[in-house]
Amino acid sequence: MGQESRKPRRQSIISMAVIGVIASILGIAAGLAIDWFPAQGSTQAKDIDTLWDVLIICSVPMFVLVTVVVLFSVREWREKPGEEATDGPPIHGNTRLEVIWTAAPAIMLVSLCTYAAIVLGDIEEAPAGNEARVAVTGEQFTWTFEYTGSDGTKFSTNQLYVEEGKSVRFDVKSKDVLHDFWVPEWRMKIDAVPGITTGFRITPTKTGVFPVVCAELCGLGHAFMRQSAHVLPSDKFATWMDQQVARVKEGGSDAGSGGGAPADGGAPDDAEPGGDSGGGAAAADGKAIFDDPANACASCHTLADAGSNGQTGPNLDEVLPGQSVDEVRTSIVDPKAQITDGFPDVMPTNYGDTLTPAQIDALVTYLTTATAK
Ligand code: CUA
Repeated sequence: MGQESRKPRRQSIISMAVIGVIASILGIAAGLAIDWFPAQGSTQAKDIDTLWDVLIICSVPMFVLVTVVVLFSVREWREKPGEEATDGPPIHGNTRLEVIWTAAPAIMLVSLCTYAAIVLGDIEEAPAGNEARVAVTGEQFTWTFEYTGSDGTKFSTNQLYVEEGKSVRFDVKSKDVLHDFWVPEWRMKIDAVPGITTGFRITPTKTGVFPVVCAELCGLGHAFMRQSAHVLPSDKFATWMDQQVARVKEGGSDAGSGGGAPADGGAPDDAEPGGDSGGGAAAADGKAIFDDPANACASCHTLADAGSNGQTGPNLDEVLPGQSVDEVRTSIVDPKAQITDGFPDVMPTNYGDTLTPAQIDALVTYLTTATAK
């Protein structure tokens, strides 16, 4: 057999076009129908989700075009029986085709990048009025949030509280390795980089409790580096701020200075409870503190009384019996003092900052009684 025509038949081109259009429509419809993200929790979320939709609308037809042409070519120009010994046809360049397939994707890419840059600029623009600021510090394996009250009093918490409808700027730092500060409902996220301060701003639009997630593999406890973001209406947020400031002042400690330690402890008392808003520290419940996901005790430790079966840290039912109250306390506020053989040195070292002395007392009491049986 001689060289047959290597031009695609007109009929093939028409069927490719029809298949391509149908596949694109189906692909775009599926892409837009899928709920990719959690509910929108900030003003930034809307713009980001729209950007995502535009990317789907542009990239699905591109993918379909390439796939259809590849599959068609494989079918049309495959080696047919009897052609095993023949050379393929000589290939000449096609300048016009090459210009088109270089220019078209380039124009598309530059357009989408420009659009994305404009969206990013818009959502990162500083608000006209004043905005709240929260200092976020990541460390293996916990987040700490530091606030400054209207009178300049500083306090820190292990749960994030922000005000609905008010722009808040996060200044993000890391004490050790790379982490990444992310609340999926707000869409924005940024790396916490040792040595520099990064950050982003959002305006929460939805009250409720949302997960704070570390989105950068940062070590063995990475998966447990999850806390909560509480978005409160303005009046409740103001009440919460007042309570925190009042508590710091009652504690009699200067912000961040450590302050006076309780009689038998060693924990600085400049910290605040991470419980629910308005929750009193007076009757701190040790089991609730252990169970609170923000404290992440249960995620790493097995404790029969609490029904937890974490494997990252020592099994408390095995190691705690026989330990004194002071030994248990030291293991919580200064875990590096003694590392149990066979376990990694990954326990957060800031429980002395994020729990109040009363909460640590309650936790120690709970742990010693729960494992004494
Ligand atoms: Cu911190 Cu992952």
